[in-house]
Amino acid sequence: MSKPLSLERLRRRWDKQSATYDKKMGFSERKFFGDTRPWICGQARDETLEVAVGTGLNLGLYPAETALTGMDLSPAMLDLARSRAAEIGRGVDLRIGDAQQLEFDDASFDTVVCTFGLCAVPDDRGAVAEMVRVLRPGGLLLLADHVVSTSAPLRALQSVIELYSVRVENEHFRRRPIEHVRAAGLVIERHERFKKGIIERVAARKPDLR
Ligand SMILES: C[S@@+](CC[C@H](N)C(=O)[O-])C[C@H]1O[C@@H](n2cnc3c(N)ncnc32)[C@H](O)[C@@H]1O
Repeated sequence: MSKPLSLERLRRRWDKQSATYDKKMGFSERKFFGDTRPWICGQARDETLEVAVGTGLNLGLYPAETALTGMDLSPAMLDLARSRAAEIGRGVDLRIGDAQQLEFDDASFDTVVCTFGLCAVPDDRGAVAEMVRVLRPGGLLLLADHVVSTSAPLRALQSVIELYSVRVENEHFRRRPIEHVRAAGLVIERHERFKKGIIERVAARKPDLR
């Protein structure tokens, strides 16, 4: 197995990509994601944290009454999210940070969102654990990502792509964050998988054991 890229290298890579990110995502948005962004954001309530918020492509899709915080590793991606928020008149507290070590106290948010971010975070299981930690009991975790396909030929192709993408960009194609969500004891309330299983979206509730 190749050595994981350092966070500093990943940050530089995302900073460099920031200016072309929205355009590059355009193809995947049209061909693969369908209504995933509105599906995710429409379920957010009250105090909401978006992890790996990127350029803020979701910002305009949240219900107006949600109080938004966004975090990301890349200052350049966050600059674009800040400009977008100003353009659309959306208040959001944007912070630099690492999804694997969130700076927030336990049980700080009613909703935690991450879209197409866990494919890029080095330790996806650790990041899910952090999202669950900062979620209040009874809160909702909303995740969407590209994951390992249900089709054998596509799985083989994903394995080949990963030989390059993991080493050079830390981009994973065969993960399934839902497994970490289940292992963390959350209750899956809604779950959809489509496009040969490549796109998966999940709404999972943190049990309220009080
Ligand atoms: C594919 S982009 C997704 C951006 C956004 N969530 C979206 O839906 O368009 C991946 C994002 O993850 C961020 N990222 C990568 N590793 C991270 C980490 N350890 N902590 C926080 N953000 C990270 C990158 O900076 C980048 O903005």
